[in-house]
Amino acid sequence: MLSKSHCWLYNKTIIRRKVCSRNSEMAFTTKILRANKDSIIFNKNDILPKITDPETEKSLRIAADELTTSTNVIGFPTETVYGLGGSALNDESVKSIYKAKNRPADNPLIVHVSSIDQLKRKILPKDYKIPEIYDNLIERFWPGPLTILLPIHEGSPISKIVTANQSTFAVRIPQHPIARALIALSDLPLAAPSANASTRPSPTLASHVYHDLQGKIPYIIDGGACDVGVESTVIDGLVDPPMLLRPGGVSVEDVRKTGGGLWENVVLAKKTAGKSEAVKTPGMKYKHYSPTAKVVLFINCGDGIAAINKYISENNIPESKTIALLKSRFFTDASAISRQINIEEDLGAIGLEISRNLFKLLRQVDEQGVDIIFVEGIDETDEGLAVMNRLSKAAFETINGK
Ligand code: TXA
Ligand code: MG
Repeated sequence: MLSKSHCWLYNKTIIRRKVCSRNSEMAFTTKILRANKDSIIFNKNDILPKITDPETEKSLRIAADELTTSTNVIGFPTETVYGLGGSALNDESVKSIYKAKNRPADNPLIVHVSSIDQLKRKILPKDYKIPEIYDNLIERFWPGPLTILLPIHEGSPISKIVTANQSTFAVRIPQHPIARALIALSDLPLAAPSANASTRPSPTLASHVYHDLQGKIPYIIDGGACDVGVESTVIDGLVDPPMLLRPGGVSVEDVRKTGGGLWENVVLAKKTAGKSEAVKTPGMKYKHYSPTAKVVLFINCGDGIAAINKYISENNIPESKTIALLKSRFFTDASAISRQINIEEDLGAIGLEISRNLFKLLRQVDEQGVDIIFVEGIDETDEGLAVMNRLSKAAFETINGK
């Protein structure tokens, strides 16, 4: 939930959004809508939610009305990260997303639906059958942090701006009750990238969205902290062998195990690509997840003492620079590593904890104004693959102790 100081800001910025003339950058007074996810009952195969808390219901109605009656976009929680949602069927709404985030136009968006029923009713051609290759994965991970690619059909209602003119679109059913309820109540498939300003770390709290997008969107639904903390896994089962385009909340081990058959040979897309290179998933060629401070990633560096001291001395980092350390399993305490480290935070010891804390702690130490963030890398198994994918993109430099 938001801190007191943020609440004060919200209260001060009053009730209804206001259009500030002549300043497109600050077109809104961003308002926070409170919602309690535990008051929403939305079982796996339900089409509509039951909502027991009146404030949550009111917040969801306001947000759903905004989405259906305007081309404005809304910040909302999903189980992975906060999303910035607008109708995937309306060019103007999708343009509002790209504009608020300042996102490059050739990086396509994920479409979020509330149920398979809605996907069929609103998007897919009549009698179309979702390719069998996805059956086991959909059964196990929807709703959840798994995004699949499907073909765009002739006459598809999805805005071409969502897909950046690709022949496929990416879709998932989020597990977060607030996200699913918002999509069901508006009955709109929502295009929703992470609700950060382009290049910044993804948001896992409503205050992160407020920090990046205040004045650019009318509403943010505050549903507390995101559970998973990294974005969904993006897979492409339309190619042979199938590909994992972005590691995320569902591990590649789980995709192999649960998907069965062809998924046992799933190919991992490479991590980065050059600016002019045609890539399978356009997101990979852009700067991502970057705090203002310089991130240095340490892998295979044991307790961290030798590697960090070597780095500080070889780079002549003066005492005047402030340094934060984000450690996880093997690094020792900052006080035993170097007196030059000013802030120390613990990412956690197990994968689930580390993914949940990653963006939050990168943002937190960045807001404390440090110059450099040293981060302890982890091994790339299970949740580690998604964590290291984000960290290697955030990092200015990687030091490998091997
Ligand atoms: O967890 C998530 O996926 C979050 C929450 C809000 O749901 N959303 C998210 O969206 O991370 P975004 O836009 O930040 O990332 C979408 C990723 C990008 O890497 C993009 O390149 C890829 O999905 N993508 C989308 N459509 C695609 C397509 N048709 N073909 C290949 N990659 C696609
Ligand atoms: Mg993103």
